[in-house]
Amino acid sequence: MKPDNTPRVIDHDDGDEPLGNHSANIGFDSILAARLSRRAVLKGGLGASLAALFAPIAPVFAGTSTAATSGARASLLGFAPVAASAADQVTVPKGYRVQVLAPWGTPLSGAPLSGTDMPFDPLKASGADQAAQVGSHHDGMHFFPIEGKDPNRGSSSDGLLVMNHEYVEPRFMHATAVGQALTRSAVTLDANGKRAADEVLKELNGHGVSVLRIRRDADGAWKVVSDARNRRVTGLTPIAIAGPVRGDDKVKTRYSPDGTMTRGTLNNCAHGVTPWNTYLTCEENWASYFVNRGERPREQARYGVATKTARYAWDQADNGADEFVRFDAGARAADATRDYRNEPNTFGWVVEIDPFDAASVPVKRTHLGRFAHEGVIFHPAVEGKPVVCYSGDDARNEFIYKFVSAKSYHKASASGALLDEGTLYVARFNADGTGEWLPLKWGHGPLVPQPVNQGEEPDCDCFKSQADVLLNTRLAADKLGATKMDRPEWGAIDPKTGMVYFTLTNNTSRKDADAANPRVNSRWGHIIRWREAGDGVASDPAATRFEWDIFLLAGPPDDSRFAGKPLAAEQIFNSPDGLWFDPDGRLWIQTDISESVMNNGDYAPFGNNQMLAADPVSGDLRRFLVGPLGQEITGVITTPDQRTMFVNIQHPGASTSAADFAAGKLTGTWPNLGRYPRSATVVITREDGGVIGT
Ligand code: FEO
Ligand code: CA
Ligand code: CA
Ligand code: CA
Repeated sequence: MKPDNTPRVIDHDDGDEPLGNHSANIGFDSILAARLSRRAVLKGGLGASLAALFAPIAPVFAGTSTAATSGARASLLGFAPVAASAADQVTVPKGYRVQVLAPWGTPLSGAPLSGTDMPFDPLKASGADQAAQVGSHHDGMHFFPIEGKDPNRGSSSDGLLVMNHEYVEPRFMHATAVGQALTRSAVTLDANGKRAADEVLKELNGHGVSVLRIRRDADGAWKVVSDARNRRVTGLTPIAIAGPVRGDDKVKTRYSPDGTMTRGTLNNCAHGVTPWNTYLTCEENWASYFVNRGERPREQARYGVATKTARYAWDQADNGADEFVRFDAGARAADATRDYRNEPNTFGWVVEIDPFDAASVPVKRTHLGRFAHEGVIFHPAVEGKPVVCYSGDDARNEFIYKFVSAKSYHKASASGALLDEGTLYVARFNADGTGEWLPLKWGHGPLVPQPVNQGEEPDCDCFKSQADVLLNTRLAADKLGATKMDRPEWGAIDPKTGMVYFTLTNNTSRKDADAANPRVNSRWGHIIRWREAGDGVASDPAATRFEWDIFLLAGPPDDSRFAGKPLAAEQIFNSPDGLWFDPDGRLWIQTDISESVMNNGDYAPFGNNQMLAADPVSGDLRRFLVGPLGQEITGVITTPDQRTMFVNIQHPGASTSAADFAAGKLTGTWPNLGRYPRSATVVITREDGGVIGT
């Protein structure tokens, strides 16, 4: 048959929108019915319902409960809030300054990058060039003081800025895209259905992590400077597999027949910082980067490995190179060590990177589970106690997890090996305000081996080993009856109280409300929090029980709640995502309204994505920053002195339609460095040099 010569466009338009959990785990609707009238929620009559929800746990949270103690002390917030805005700029309060740092394409060498003398032109850069430049789609990040001893103590003018690059927008990367009607996620195939190999390489190298030495000049400006530690970890970097899954049959591939290594980390969303001064990058929407056109095993199907075309069709690279064809995860050879049927099993993990050693091999820490990891957040480490951290699975109706190390933390010897032994738990939020951590421990409860007479391959929800439980974390959590959440995003731990906060960004597929996810068709999202149980007043991070409440319901004035009141018009936001407590106890909240709806219809009053600050004790909430058009705000950290804040602006201009792109008309051009918009970090300081937020 004669080939059709028209180039084809493939478009996973929902490529970064998570799939949903359709398992039979029915959640807790029936329990809820006894406690919360669904009708009241549906009608928006939230006040009474929420008062009822909070009542049983008010004593637990005395002194911290916004509803109970609003106004108990002066607010931690001292800035004048900014208005919602749909302007193509970064807006901050009066008295604050903004500087753009490390935009996509910045050379790792620290060479200058400016509007007039710009070494990076995305359309001219090769795939190899991108490996020596800052990646795209900046996300979670941390500032490591240059001393390299403690992640939160040391220099406030010199350090390593380490950041994630979640994904790419191919139309802004390639000369072949100019003039074509492409959406933000589309890629083009040639007449033979192939992709140019160098474009594939550029996209893989646009993902991952950047390690950048940054320094503040005498004039107050921050710059990327040349340093032997400057490094890119990309979709191609060799990475070791550690923990129970290391060496398992299900991670053996042609590249690593003994199942100990893989190449690359992808869809690096939020991050974590370990008590031993390393960086964790979290693999979120990795599944659709792979395609299996045959029958998908459960470890692919439950996560959404594609069935027709992979998200960017990297498997179709026209040079057929091994590092590209591996994105086709079909079984095609005699056994798994001769093809890439297991390649997707080497993704979906938390990856540890030592930013102070550019030669170090990053490590996938499999005991933290395999899912769409948003980020990971640690309780402060205590000498002689286990290490405890949390991670959310950002997909509709997925779960929140906690890991407790088997071995105790000792500052002198602590390392990533602490994450290789322990217990992974999943959360159940009971309707009465209590909660339980359910262990994903092989051989316990329903997580048992297959009966021998049922053959080798699982044909029931059974598990052969701890490695099998971890590879199929979601299935194991389904079996335990975990609570299906409204897309768990970032977590943060209050330094003053030890309470854990998590954003639940939205869930338009929710048909049945429950106590912890109280709105059907949840378009606006909310923030939940809990306190781990303990003996008496002390809370033990390793406890298996907790008490929770809903901290904030986001939304418009007629459908929101914080500190016992609806959000005022000047406070409204929706789709909370990034979350971080500064050392004083200010909670910074970042938003990710989808570019498909932002500034449209009843999303219009919220304006562009933004960042707010909340004081959980006084019940104050103020909008601090509004970003430019088309982007999301994600990633926030300050220097130890809290006088410099870094915030990431991801995918500016992404709301440009396919037709407008073809016509060369962009919705948003920020930060106005050349032809296209580009993700970048912004540095926020005060004109008077003061602490950010006060
Ligand atoms: Fe990558 Fe759930 O945000
Ligand atoms: Ca996010
Ligand atoms: Ca999000
Ligand atoms: Ca995003």
